[in-house]
Amino acid sequence: MKYRTLGQTDLNVSAICFGPMRSASRQPEDDDKSRRGEQALRYALDCGVNFLHSSYEYGTRWMMERVLKDHPKRGEVHHVIKLPVPDGEDEEQFHPAKFEMRIDEALQDLHAERISVLQWMWRSSPNSDHKRLPLFGRIIEDVSKTFDRLHDKGKVGYLMTYPYTLPCGRLALESGHFAGLIAPFNVLETEFSDLFEDLSSRGLGFMPFRPLYQGVLTDQRADASSLSSDDRCAADSYRKVYKTLGMVRETFGDAIGSSLTAFAVRFALAHPVCSSVIVGLNTVDQVDGLVHALEQPRLPTDIVARVQQATSTSVLAEPSHARSAEKDK
Ligand SMILES: NC(=O)c1ccc[n+]([C@@H]2O[C@H](COP(=O)([O-])OP(=O)(O)OC[C@H]3O[C@@H](n4cnc5c(N)ncnc54)[C@H](OP(=O)(O)O)[C@@H]3O)[C@@H](O)[C@H]2O)c1
Repeated sequence: MKYRTLGQTDLNVSAICFGPMRSASRQPEDDDKSRRGEQALRYALDCGVNFLHSSYEYGTRWMMERVLKDHPKRGEVHHVIKLPVPDGEDEEQFHPAKFEMRIDEALQDLHAERISVLQWMWRSSPNSDHKRLPLFGRIIEDVSKTFDRLHDKGKVGYLMTYPYTLPCGRLALESGHFAGLIAPFNVLETEFSDLFEDLSSRGLGFMPFRPLYQGVLTDQRADASSLSSDDRCAADSYRKVYKTLGMVRETFGDAIGSSLTAFAVRFALAHPVCSSVIVGLNTVDQVDGLVHALEQPRLPTDIVARVQQATSTSVLAEPSHARSAEKDK
C-alpha cells in the first residue's frame, strides 16, 4: 500500500480511502451483501488501508463498528466523516450542538479516539449556489470557532469541505479555513481539477471520491450492452455517460491499456494534490483489484488536463448532465 501526506497536515494516509456507502445493508443484518462488505473492510485493513470514509446517512456504520470494535489496527486508522451542518432542514442556521453531536456519534460508532478529517458541508433548501454562496459568509466564522473548540478537546484533526460546486469551492479556498477539498473527480467528472493548481500553491489537499463513476469505469461495466437490466448503470440516465466513455476509450486507449478499472483509480490519483481516493469497496476482490492497480507507477500529471480537454466537447460538457440518477447527498 502506498501512503501520502494529505496536503500540509500531519496525516500519512493510504492512497485508498475505504468508501462504505454500499458495503452493507442499511441496518444490521446477516445478509450476503453485509457479510461481503465486512470481509472487504477487514481485508482492506489487512492490506494497509488506514483511511476510512463514513457517514451516518449511509446507514452502514453498524458494519464498520463490528469490524473496528476489537480490531488490532483500530488505533492506527484515520477517519474522514461527512458532516452536513446545516442540512437542508436547518433553515440556513448553523447549530454548534448538532455539529458536535454528529462528531460524538461518529466517535462512538467507529470506536475512535479522534476523527482525523471532517468533511464539512453546508446545505440549503434548495441546495443551490444562489443560496449557498451567501450562507457560507454568514456561518463560516461560527463553524470555524466550533471546529477549533472541538480540536482543542482532541475530538477532531482537520477541517476539509465538499463544496458541491466550483464557485463554492473557490469561496472555501479563499476563506483560509480549510486543509483541503473533497469532491467527485474521475475520468468523466474532471471539473474540480480546475482548482488543483490553486490548492497546490496554498499547500492544501484534495480527496477525490467516486473514482469509478459508481462502477461505470470498471472492466466489468465498461460495455453498457453487457449490463443486466437490473444493474444501476443500465438506467437511461447513464446513456450519455457511456457515450462519453466510448470516446475516452477510443482517444486514450494506449494509456488505459488492459484495464479500465486500474486506469480509472490511477487517474484519480494522477495529480500530486490528490493524496487518497475515496472509493466504494464491497468485496475482497474489489479491494484486491485496486490494491494491485496502485502498485503500478503514477500516471503522468498531464493526463488530467488531456482528458478534461477531450471531454469538454462531449455531451458531459455541463457537469450537471453527468450526474448520476442517485442523489449525491
Ligand atoms: N457527497 C459525498 O460526500 C459522497 C457522495 C458519494 C460518494 N461518497 C463516498 O465515496 C465513495 C465512493 O463512491 P461511489 O461508490 O458512488 O463510487 P465509486 O467509488 O466510483 O464506485 C464504487 C463501485 O464500483 C464497483 N467497484 C469497486 N471496486 C471495483 C473493482 N476493483 N472492480 C470492479 N468494480 C469495482 C463497486 O460496485 P458493485 O459492487 O456494485 O459492482 C462499487 O460500489 C462512497 O462509498 C462514499 O464513501 C461521498
